[in-house]
Amino acid sequence: MLAVDDLHTYLGDSHILRGVSFELPAGSALGLLGRNGMGKTTLIRSMLGYVRPRAGRVRWLGTDITGHLPERITRLGLGYVPEGRGIFPNLSVRENLLMAARPAADGASPWTLERVLETFPRLAERLSHGGQQLSGGEQQMLAIGRALMTHPRLLILDEATEGLAPLVVAEIWRVIALIRASGLSTLVVDRNIRAVLAHTDRALVMEKGRVVMSGESAALAADPAAMAQVLGV
Ligand SMILES: Nc1ncnc2c1ncn2[C@@H]1O[C@H](COP(=O)(O)OP(=O)(O)O)[C@@H](O)[C@H]1O
Ligand SMILES: [Mg+2]
Repeated sequence: MLAVDDLHTYLGDSHILRGVSFELPAGSALGLLGRNGMGKTTLIRSMLGYVRPRAGRVRWLGTDITGHLPERITRLGLGYVPEGRGIFPNLSVRENLLMAARPAADGASPWTLERVLETFPRLAERLSHGGQQLSGGEQQMLAIGRALMTHPRLLILDEATEGLAPLVVAEIWRVIALIRASGLSTLVVDRNIRAVLAHTDRALVMEKGRVVMSGESAALAADPAAMAQVLGV
């Protein structure tokens, strides 16, 4: 479904992505691991058109989308929950959700406002609150809800649990599991390596702009040497 081939990205003069290649088959969950500053967010932003790669290709459903505009890429079914959430602080929860809505593909089980609110009961209680009145966890739930209402074929979550209290973190992982069980493909970046491996089929490990390891998540979780390399110890 998604195929990234030998992607190179520069930020200023810094060569950040140094030839990243991977594939994500339809219906699968992929984890993206690696310490801080290794290029995970840059990879996502390069795939989604926020940063133009210097070389390499991004193919989505058989189409070359390299360097296309983010709006256009989103419309093709790539849903993105960015680091830092990106909700509209001056709009209510309801407005944030409704302005993101786009029709579902034929035959898809639609992410209506009702279904999103069932998934995130906390948002249902805060429907008329402004985005800026929400707690960090509620903002994160709203960001995920917004992405779901665009009816993506692939949902990309970058550090969705960052800075949240343990109970809220558990709630976010519950929803990620539910989204995965619904058949939607996911690409998950998170600092909690165990949680990423538990919620994905395969995982990649990035180091200094390269993929240095990849494999089945269950196998990686059961391999202490691999885990040590992932953790950088
Ligand atoms: N605007 C920028 N100009 C130059 N280097 C940058 C810029 N933004 C990020 N970087 C560098 O790019 C590298 C990768 O960052 P990033 O993709 O955010 O990593 P990760 O998401 O894995 O933590 C880091 O070394 C970071 O310092
Ligand atoms: Mg990042």
